[in-house]
Amino acid sequence: MAKKTPAGWTRKHLLGLEDLSAGEITHLLDTAEKFFPYATRALADKPPVPPGPLANRTVLNLFCEDSTRTRTSFTLAAERLGARVVQFHAATSSLKKNETLLDTARNIEAMGLDAIVIRHSQRGMPHAVALAVQCSVLNGGDDAHEHPTQALLDMLALRQKLGRLYRLTVAIVGDIRHSRVARSNLYGLSKMGSRVIFVGPPLFLEGLSDIAAPVETSTDLDAILPECDAVMMLRVQFERHEGVSFDLEDYKRGYQLTAKRLARAKPGAIVLHPGPINRGLEITDEVADGPQSVILHQVTCGVAVRMAALRLCIGAMERERRSTPTGRRGRKR
Ligand code: CP
Repeated sequence: MAKKTPAGWTRKHLLGLEDLSAGEITHLLDTAEKFFPYATRALADKPPVPPGPLANRTVLNLFCEDSTRTRTSFTLAAERLGARVVQFHAATSSLKKNETLLDTARNIEAMGLDAIVIRHSQRGMPHAVALAVQCSVLNGGDDAHEHPTQALLDMLALRQKLGRLYRLTVAIVGDIRHSRVARSNLYGLSKMGSRVIFVGPPLFLEGLSDIAAPVETSTDLDAILPECDAVMMLRVQFERHEGVSFDLEDYKRGYQLTAKRLARAKPGAIVLHPGPINRGLEITDEVADGPQSVILHQVTCGVAVRMAALRLCIGAMERERRSTPTGRRGRKR
């Protein structure tokens, strides 16, 4: 079982799970659990979490790639904590006039920001923005590198549904090569004491040398399933497939999660998918909408996890501001 380290959070940025400890992950998930009632529809029309821990704070959603779940749930998370949210739309911004993203971030920060949530197609861009600004930066997904809040919400869903995050066997199946979700889950779940197996055709198990952790792989989903407590299906990311070609029918024969195939997994095994889903490709409707699927529960967990991430990171950033006399909001005495 993974060791628990003392509670506490000192990071003003959340850029990836590669650097987080098991104790930090547990602390964030425990905080998300406290916010969970505010992630559900039943309480959605209540006032911000008393006493509005992020009241008068401003969060920028700096999304330079498409998103439904991450952008929406960061927005709802910030608003339910009492913060204002500004939506940046790359397609109608001055990025079109060759302004750099770092200049964009610095300029909007100069209008008064407490956090930037960034999604970008370039690996490491959230890290570069974090070096360029004073406020908190949270990675909403960078290329095939990391998607930390997705993995944290996956872990919250796993913990809620299976009761623990240690000694689980989780197969992550499909287009691993292009997946930031697979990488962040590998870092997070292994730190929590679980086993992660990347499963897919050889083509999708190439290009994993960037991963800074031991990687277990298999090309045989049917052989791996009987060991699995959870199966996380990944979207085939056609938009990242320049120069990659494969036979869709072969792929389905080997890797599509069907009800018949799922029956090979451990009794009570759950099915996850980060979304968006290619229905009828990596997963059948019957499984995606079936009793073992926790796909929509993952989405609810996403609001709670993002509430926790914003609360903890902005809290750490404000402690830093207070301890820096010349900080942006600090006053010289
Ligand atoms: N899982 C996920 O990141 O979904 P979006 O691309 O819709 O944000």
